[in-house]
Amino acid sequence: MPVNRRQFIAGGGAALSASTALVPATVARAASHGADAPEGWSTLRAAVAKAQLAPGDYPPTEVWAYNESSPGPVLRFNRGEMLRQRLVNDLPEETSVHWHGIRLPNAMDGVPDLTQKAVATGETFDYEFAVPDAGTYWYHTHNRSWEQMARGLYGPLIIDEDTPPDVDRDLILTVDDWRLDQTTAEIAGAFGNLMDFAHGGRMGNLITVNSQFEHRQPVKGGERLRLRLINTATARIFSLGLQGLEGWVVAVDGQPLDTPTPPEEVFRLAPAQRIDLIVDVTAEPGQEAYVIGIERSGGFALATFDVATGTAAARRPAPAALPSNDLPAPDRANAREAPLLLEGGAMRGLGKAMFEGRSLSGRELSEQGQVWAMNGVAGMPSVPLAGVARGETLRIPFQNDTMFPHAMHLHGHHFREELADGTLGPWRDTILVDPDQKTSIVFVADNPGRWLLHCHMLGHQASGMKTRIEVST
Ligand code: C2O
Ligand code: CU
Repeated sequence: MPVNRRQFIAGGGAALSASTALVPATVARAASHGADAPEGWSTLRAAVAKAQLAPGDYPPTEVWAYNESSPGPVLRFNRGEMLRQRLVNDLPEETSVHWHGIRLPNAMDGVPDLTQKAVATGETFDYEFAVPDAGTYWYHTHNRSWEQMARGLYGPLIIDEDTPPDVDRDLILTVDDWRLDQTTAEIAGAFGNLMDFAHGGRMGNLITVNSQFEHRQPVKGGERLRLRLINTATARIFSLGLQGLEGWVVAVDGQPLDTPTPPEEVFRLAPAQRIDLIVDVTAEPGQEAYVIGIERSGGFALATFDVATGTAAARRPAPAALPSNDLPAPDRANAREAPLLLEGGAMRGLGKAMFEGRSLSGRELSEQGQVWAMNGVAGMPSVPLAGVARGETLRIPFQNDTMFPHAMHLHGHHFREELADGTLGPWRDTILVDPDQKTSIVFVADNPGRWLLHCHMLGHQASGMKTRIEVST
């Protein structure tokens, strides 16, 4: 597979330079720093910052960032530890932080108007909860997220296993796309454009890893790497491959697979999904290995590993499965059902539908910025998709009657897909449902509160695709 130079992927023609300035992500342990925050707390300050996203001969880009860095600081804890973060909002508008994939108390979930009030400019909000499960997670804004995340407000949240697997390097790779002006490298405006929202969402024209246009790391031949891939894009599904790296998927969305499994030759990572790989460097010493991104135009080096010269270490046996987080097994025979029909968008539209007794036409809805519906309702319904007693098993059959894939994310829980052969897929918190696909998920609703269920293509969420479940105490 040819590995091309990276470039602006839409419009083309942008000149490239060899090197890119780095935007190092700082590591914040759960230690005390930050003048405002109480003892034992850390501060996440959301504010405007600069990042060198485009190649070095472009100017830096104005982004919205946590602690001056996008991605924000790597927050890293041991399993079971308390996370204590004070959000300080120095942005020109309201914001909040959602801890994606964490089973936390509802009041800490960071969803404005559902679990907390949005945090106004100059205000703070204290997030405090235990992190129960090891794995690769992330945090991001949950207010006007289609714009705030596209401006850079997110960061990795890593919870270490009690006994981490034996690897030589543990690497976080956040993959994102940005829509930049090709002259100034500033983030292009026109957020909330319904043409984008009615299609696949706001796609970027510059792809980065950890906000670096050209992401490189040194490795040694035969080294074993843990790669934690996080898709932080607001709409793009990444198709990925490996070259000069061989290994196994060990976890998805933070949750270990029962058996480490080699990745497909091309594997997809939908918005908000994570994949943990353990791979061995099989490229020859002195060569390069790659995580490859695959677009219609071909493959390109998403991340490059420079293999040192010298003798490569011998291959090692396959790794053991990561320790399970012991999520509660769904009781499929007694599951309560709450089907979810996905409709609308370009080429199918909302023309015929009647919405929640408001009798709005598809046209009237789109004038209100709503172009997608779930169960005939565009936007947050007045009643939850399901109200369940704590501990009940819920099955959500999805039917995607649209022309677009949707990355459906449930807050506060992990679920398993019911596969065609009757078995259960891996634990996930975000599932990609393809056009015209029908599939279902099951999980034990064991976390009391009001939990959002939405498309993580954030323009779709903004223009209709959101609902909630309610779990009683
Ligand atoms: Cu990652 Cu409701 O979000
Ligand atoms: Cu969607």
